[in-house]
Amino acid sequence: MRPKVFAAHRMFEPARALLEKHCEVDYWERPERPPRDELLRRVADKDALICLLTEKVNDELLERAPKLRIAATVSVGYDNIDVAACTRRKIVATHTPGVLDDTTADFAFALLMAVARRVVEGDAWMRAGTWPGWDLDQLCGGDIWGKTLGIIGFGRIGRSMAKRSQGFSMRILYSDARRAAAEIERELHAEYVELERLLAESDFVSVHVPLLPETRRLINAATLAKMKPTAYLINTSRGPVVDEAALAAALEAKQIAGAALDVFEAEPKAHPQLVGRKDVILTPHIASASVETRTKMAVMAVENVIALFEGRRPANALNAEILAAAK
Ligand code: DGY
Repeated sequence: MRPKVFAAHRMFEPARALLEKHCEVDYWERPERPPRDELLRRVADKDALICLLTEKVNDELLERAPKLRIAATVSVGYDNIDVAACTRRKIVATHTPGVLDDTTADFAFALLMAVARRVVEGDAWMRAGTWPGWDLDQLCGGDIWGKTLGIIGFGRIGRSMAKRSQGFSMRILYSDARRAAAEIERELHAEYVELERLLAESDFVSVHVPLLPETRRLINAATLAKMKPTAYLINTSRGPVVDEAALAAALEAKQIAGAALDVFEAEPKAHPQLVGRKDVILTPHIASASVETRTKMAVMAVENVIALFEGRRPANALNAEILAAAK
């Protein structure tokens, strides 16, 4: 009997083809995300769940899915999965690390450039047909080259961001719970500093931490107050890492120069006080959204599922300890 899978998205053709070769698949085919009750109903008789970061895999869901052996999220961030609850039930939880680092860093850097050089404001002006013609002081933003980039969270994506900034002769400061190896610091010309110093000295602060109790609202009224009035904040990590109301207040008080956010505290909405601001760029959680990368992520999630049912260890298990006996 082939394992039964509920895939909470149609995914991309290569992922579908691979999955269907090995499993009996029930897809969520509609464009909106599945309502919770529908998700709970569809997962009830399944051996595996392939979900997105929008689906909460918690005790409530796991109780309703007595046969479930694996929950595979098509995302590197896994704050949607209660890994401890999965572990208690011997359900493997997997994610998709590594394949989206460069794509996400590309986008974070694009946001950095767009907010500093006022690309979106210029675009809006042209579309409205209200550009009066060239003038010396129009839409003057901040320079990027030669400035200081502060990277909060120096994992794979943070380091990819550092690589990009080298082409712009930027100085790199980073803070992280763990200091990187000396050879990585040398290679990336990155200096490890306390968060306080990073905030005080950086012209751009780019956030690349996972959402954890200790990173929730890491960027808040107090930390924003430590930034330079000419500095920009970029967030492509998780929305709740930034207190959006505090950010709106800091922008209003001109404590910082601007912000670019790809992720939000209450997705799919952004804080209403951010929406009308010209000094803010808002994008809908698309930092990893290239066809190539999203396809790789989906294939990776499928490979994790297939590995488990073939008696192999899924490469990206978050609770590998429950697989101690498996090869
Ligand atoms: C992730 O993978 O966690 C991103 O937020 C979406 O690609």
